[in-house]
Amino acid sequence: MERLCASGDLTEGEVRQVDIGDGRVLAVYRVDGQVYATDDLCTHGDASLADGEIEDGRIVCPYHMGTFDIRTGEAIGAPCSIAVRTHRVIEEDGAILLCP
Ligand code: FES
Repeated sequence: MERLCASGDLTEGEVRQVDIGDGRVLAVYRVDGQVYATDDLCTHGDASLADGEIEDGRIVCPYHMGTFDIRTGEAIGAPCSIAVRTHRVIEEDGAILLCP
């Protein structure tokens, strides 16, 4: 499993961008004590979801305020209509890890 960041780097209600190489960039979230990850790139345009705000379990894209469910990646707020890819992550031994 690949280490994304230290647990302490991600406080409750926070999202941060993690570059995992090979052109892959994730947004990693902590919501209600759980950690989640999605692709960082919005499916509607060239925006970093890690620059957005978390509201009620959703990430609000900073460009056009479209929203995605952080847990499922489902596009739930216009203008977004295509789901963002989610990635399985776990928290272990003080680190947030990307599952293969
Ligand atoms: Fe994200 Fe438009 S680029 S909503």
